[in-house]
Amino acid sequence: QKLQLNLEEIEKAGYDHFMLKEIYEQPKAITDTYRGRLLRDQAIIKMSGVEDNIKKFLNANRVIIVACGTSWHAGLVAEYIFEDLARIPVEVEYASEFRYRNPVINEDDILIAISQSGETADTLAAIKLAKSKGAFVFGICNVVGSSIARETHAGAYTHAGPEIGVASTKAFTTQITVLTLMALRLARAKGTITSSDYHHHLLELEMIPNKVKKALEYDNHIKTIADIYKDATNCLYLGRGYNFPVALEGALKLKEISYIHAEGYPAAEMKHGPIALIDENMPVIVIATKKGHYEKVVSNIQEIKSRKGKIIGIVTQGDEQVRELADHVIEVPETLESLSPLLTTIPLQLLSYHIAVMLGKNVDQPRNLAKSVTVE
Ligand code: G6P
Repeated sequence: QKLQLNLEEIEKAGYDHFMLKEIYEQPKAITDTYRGRLLRDQAIIKMSGVEDNIKKFLNANRVIIVACGTSWHAGLVAEYIFEDLARIPVEVEYASEFRYRNPVINEDDILIAISQSGETADTLAAIKLAKSKGAFVFGICNVVGSSIARETHAGAYTHAGPEIGVASTKAFTTQITVLTLMALRLARAKGTITSSDYHHHLLELEMIPNKVKKALEYDNHIKTIADIYKDATNCLYLGRGYNFPVALEGALKLKEISYIHAEGYPAAEMKHGPIALIDENMPVIVIATKKGHYEKVVSNIQEIKSRKGKIIGIVTQGDEQVRELADHVIEVPETLESLSPLLTTIPLQLLSYHIAVMLGKNVDQPRNLAKSVTVE
């Protein structure tokens, strides 16, 4: 047993928990995931699973994305980027819901299954269902040779490396990286993106790992904020557009490891319900990056403030407007709005991590949760 413990210490490489190590590994994980695929000098994206099936992708009526948990949130981000850049209609489904209703699937539909472990039973069942209806099935997995990787017609691996912490972190950002590369490749092939916009995206994507490093530098500041809010019993996460799924993911992270009730919501929907919950005891984390419907989000923040909610703003570096209104701000470097989830996610991961540690919870193995859910 002692040997086992020592081994674990070595694996944690000096970090207190696997989750923290994995959060810090994201610059490398993202780089490893686009390496050899994003060839900016040649202005091409090379992914054999996509290239070999490019006609199928270009002729597809729609893309259906199925996944569970955090992978489902990556799918939601992909919905924005596929539709925005490649103009392909996308539906994102919980694998468990998709398989148990009677979904309409046609031969010219493409199903993309996203799974870190490649073993999630519901996702696997959704794949089998889609295959039986003649759809082309593409997998995005982290674990090489996993069941989902084997069951799909083609796919692209994320190169996150082993993820041990039950709460998914680097798998999420690398899934978004793969999906972004796919959307860009298809947009280029379809002619739905201008040449300059395409190049700009390649350049910005290449710079993301360094910007993630910058975002990680706010760790101590985030720890201070965690200390102030660790005893909250509820938390609201708001975001719009590309950052709405990030709000969902931020709330999921907090629930999973700190057992604090948290809800993610599209900022504009706040007025249709959650606003009733806001009082001086409610921390509200608002993602308010400069390019993402900024003015609208600022007015949401004003509404929260007038109800005395505590505001933690995730903002673009140099932001002044939200800083004026919010109780705290956490900055992330500027990037394209379509790539911003790769940055705005980072402070939310760290915030949940620090709160859970301060509450003395088992961060890497939260109660009742499993890393891979192989039961239906
Ligand atoms: C479990 C894990 C989550 C994960 C989800 C989907 O609930 O605890 O972290 O997001 O399964 O897993 P997958 O391996 O399919 O991405």
